Amino acid sequence: MSLREVARALVAPGKGILAADESSGTIKKRFDSIGCESTEDRRRAYREMLFTTPGAAANVSGVILFDETIRQAASDGRTLVAILESEGVIPGIKVDKGAVPLHNAPGELITEGLDGLGARLAEYRALGAKFAKWRAVIDISDTIPTQYCLDVNAHALARYAALCQQEGIVPIIEPEVLMDGAHSIDTCYDVTLRTLHTVFNACFDQKVDLQGALLKPNMVIPGKKHSAGQATPDAVADATIACFRETVPAAIPGIVFLSGGQSDAEATANLDAINKRGPHPWEFSFSYGRALQAPALAAWKGLDANADAGQAAYAKRARLNGAARDGKYDAAMEAAS
Ligand code: 13P
Repeated sequence: MSLREVARALVAPGKGILAADESSGTIKKRFDSIGCESTEDRRRAYREMLFTTPGAAANVSGVILFDETIRQAASDGRTLVAILESEGVIPGIKVDKGAVPLHNAPGELITEGLDGLGARLAEYRALGAKFAKWRAVIDISDTIPTQYCLDVNAHALARYAALCQQEGIVPIIEPEVLMDGAHSIDTCYDVTLRTLHTVFNACFDQKVDLQGALLKPNMVIPGKKHSAGQATPDAVADATIACFRETVPAAIPGIVFLSGGQSDAEATANLDAINKRGPHPWEFSFSYGRALQAPALAAWKGLDANADAGQAAYAKRARLNGAARDGKYDAAMEAAS
């Protein structure tokens, strides 16, 4: 498949992406929350449970893996990549090396991982990866983000995207504006607009083929500590669509949201509200980590005996987000098992 075909397949109707690419530090935090020690065996067992969930492939087009996972084998000896491929699910890989403090920019971060990236991408491609992810982190306060921070992160995202396309891999471009602060939805709108504008300028300068790439952004929502609380799905949909219409080129085939700390049901309801307002210039789908996995993790609790319950919880969130991706979700569907 060409880059453009892979990008379109990842946002096929009724389907979105599972982000299961938690780094070693992040998966340890998730496992701590269920009282499970983060060993290589438990990480393998957890991801194997998700990837072998019956029927999930109806709503999951692709899975983003971590470096350890793309090399791991399941209990039956098949690689986890082979299991995904046998279900028609496209394997992807996180290739950034995380965010570190940005010099002379208090409170701001720059994502690392460009050195040697071409060779790593070639190896990942040989291991089966057809798409990749790189996450830039943009935080909001009274004084940040600075344009300096947006510029260097956009440059890195575009350089990563160009390298991916050179190696025959679809880049998912993820500039995440965090929802951690006390800011309003209007502030999120302004910062997201500025961030996306800077990112697409850099992609243009570095000759990224947007038709063979996907955007993974935050939705336009208030910060978690905002005094007025969370916005309604209608308000989130209005702000998000308006913001993207100002900045995101129509050449991008799909916009796959991160969940970023929204609850499972919020992330689903907001995606649904956005799609109910279609048609749009792009497909709007999901690339959720926490919002797809949280109930499965809680049901599994680190024990093989709970794998069926974990799979049922994951299958449900995949199904409901698949419906939301088409604008066919209803909150009443949350009550069904
Ligand atoms: P969340 O949906 O949990 O934000 O994770 C998505 C992701 O891949 C962040 O990089």
